[in-house]
Amino acid sequence: MVEPKRAKRSDYIEWAKTCSQARFNLATSGVIHYPLSELPLSLEDIELSGPSWYGYEPLQQALAAKCGVTTDNVVAATGTSMANYLAMAAILEPGDEALVERPAYDPLVAAAAFTGATVKRFERRFQDAFRVDPAEIERAVTDRTRLIVLTNMHNPSSVLTDSVTMQRIGEIARRAGARVLVDEVYLEALFDPVPRSAFHLGPEFVTTGSLTKAYGLSGLRCGWILAEPELVQKMWRLNDLFGNIPAHPAERLSVIALKNLDQIAARARALIDRNRPLLDQFLDLRDDLETIRPGCGTVVAPRVTRTSVDQLCKLLRDKYETTVVPGRFFEMPDHIRIGIACDSDMLKVGLERLGAALDELRV
Ligand SMILES: Cc1ncc(COP(=O)(O)O)c(C=O)c1O
Repeated sequence: MVEPKRAKRSDYIEWAKTCSQARFNLATSGVIHYPLSELPLSLEDIELSGPSWYGYEPLQQALAAKCGVTTDNVVAATGTSMANYLAMAAILEPGDEALVERPAYDPLVAAAAFTGATVKRFERRFQDAFRVDPAEIERAVTDRTRLIVLTNMHNPSSVLTDSVTMQRIGEIARRAGARVLVDEVYLEALFDPVPRSAFHLGPEFVTTGSLTKAYGLSGLRCGWILAEPELVQKMWRLNDLFGNIPAHPAERLSVIALKNLDQIAARARALIDRNRPLLDQFLDLRDDLETIRPGCGTVVAPRVTRTSVDQLCKLLRDKYETTVVPGRFFEMPDHIRIGIACDSDMLKVGLERLGAALDELRV
């Protein structure tokens, strides 16, 4: 299927900003916010302006060290969101084709369409546990394909793509003269250690990430792109048109956060380890939710088998003050996405309420 051209909005992000807030919010995909008060810093560590031209050197070095690359492979960007856009805009020209996974995080589809490229899709089927099938990608590639786009871990399912499969995708891209953009924002949530970025698999890979999801640091907007130096330079120049330079206090805080990442990760990991059994206990009791459970990540995307998702989400919000993401935002109208990295009490009660709403609507 070919998507409409030049999207200029994301319905999902608009919904997330205006409709997802609730007393029991299971619609978020990231770890609860890490408080500034727990970062070891003093006012002298922050400054309003500083030497940030094509990157702030201490941040470039901290990101390069974290990702096991050199600084000429790194573009610091405003979150994974801007990272994805810069990567796409640097690679795609109007008339090119971008091949994007489905189900997908909506801004990936919209941003690709915004570049003027034609967006085509490859399926990650629920019946196939949302796995990426390189043969399907190969069939969908044409001589106009310039970019293959996927998430790892997958949003909305948290399914992990192994490096052998990634390598096969890389080979398909190389033969087609295309690149592979892997949004790795959720890969960070594997912690201990975070697996190596697909960037290391070959020059056709461009990867993006941030401290947003796994560490609860979305407010820092500390994102990055890893790419070949020539492409990195193209992205920095492109960024001159949009962000120009980032907020310097955020760069300073990002350097401090990266220095203390082990401690921040330990807190996030403990939360997820505490919450996953709550999800599993809930899912074990539900014969009206079919769920791929990869056992990792911060979200799952069950199929709702005995009622309509629209009715469920409405009842859940109106009567039970609880939100999950309706699957239509991921082009899967029979599914919901449940986030598990919120406060443990909120998750426990939110899941009870989801169960009550499902019971009430059961046919
Ligand atoms: C796959 C994916 N990429 C990027 C983002 C946005 O990340 P950031 O807050 O770092 O811009 C999200 C947020 O939900 C996401 O799910």
